[in-house]
Amino acid sequence: MSMLREDDQPIGGARPVRDLFNETAPVYDRFNQIFSLGSGSWYRRRCLRRAGLRPGLRVLDVAVGTGLLAKEAMRLAGGAEAIVGVDLSEAMLEIARDKIGIGVVQSTAESLPIAEESIDFLSMGYALRHIGDIDRLFGEFHRVMRAGATLLLLELSKPTGPLSRALFSRHFAYLAPSIQRVVARRAETRSLMIYHWETIANGVDPAAVTAALRRCGFEEVRGERYFDIFRSFTARKRN
Ligand SMILES: C[S@@+](CC[C@H](N)C(=O)[O-])C[C@H]1O[C@@H](n2cnc3c(N)ncnc32)[C@H](O)[C@@H]1O
Repeated sequence: MSMLREDDQPIGGARPVRDLFNETAPVYDRFNQIFSLGSGSWYRRRCLRRAGLRPGLRVLDVAVGTGLLAKEAMRLAGGAEAIVGVDLSEAMLEIARDKIGIGVVQSTAESLPIAEESIDFLSMGYALRHIGDIDRLFGEFHRVMRAGATLLLLELSKPTGPLSRALFSRHFAYLAPSIQRVVARRAETRSLMIYHWETIANGVDPAAVTAALRRCGFEEVRGERYFDIFRSFTARKRN
């Protein structure tokens, strides 16, 4: 199953991202629920629907994790057969496969073991900030997408207002880990939360994302913001 090359593994802080996600895979869904205050599936489904996901499309969900976005994609695309999930973490993939029954492949997002022009709808949720070279990433997405196919990216970005910045940093660093420790009794969640906050705070610049998408040959590039932290980007591969 593994298509990983050692040189493809990005590093988050002092530890490889893959290790971090492997260790925290068992608690990821609870972590996500706490952070999104239960709105995660509704928001993911809304973005997929607005981007035009419908039955009959062949979907690739990159950085599928435990399958939270893929699960909503399944509901709109009409079943597990329509979806393949890719992730660099084997522990995440195991959960996604067991939970929703989609096909999964272990690979980095930047080097996909997927045929050229074979995908109608490509999604990637909350992984952009782990990617070092977004031009390489979008070039790879462009390669596997057929002409006219849709790309949907979901991401968190640094809040723009000082108040929301202060609130979110406290949420990630103190409040959410404390709740999580009580709920899940796992110490690793604190490092995951801190890592998340650091990658958001130093993470993607929305203008750089839209510029890179255009540079890589995408058109109809749009970015939206919700609650000063949630970002979604859609784009289409030229027909
Ligand atoms: C925050 S989780 C998001 C999971 C899922 N998309 C969701 O909506 O909940 C980020 C995922 O990205 C994966 N990831 C990080 N860097 C990656 C890379 N370069 N290639 C493939 N997957 C990557 C991690 O293993 C993790 O499963």
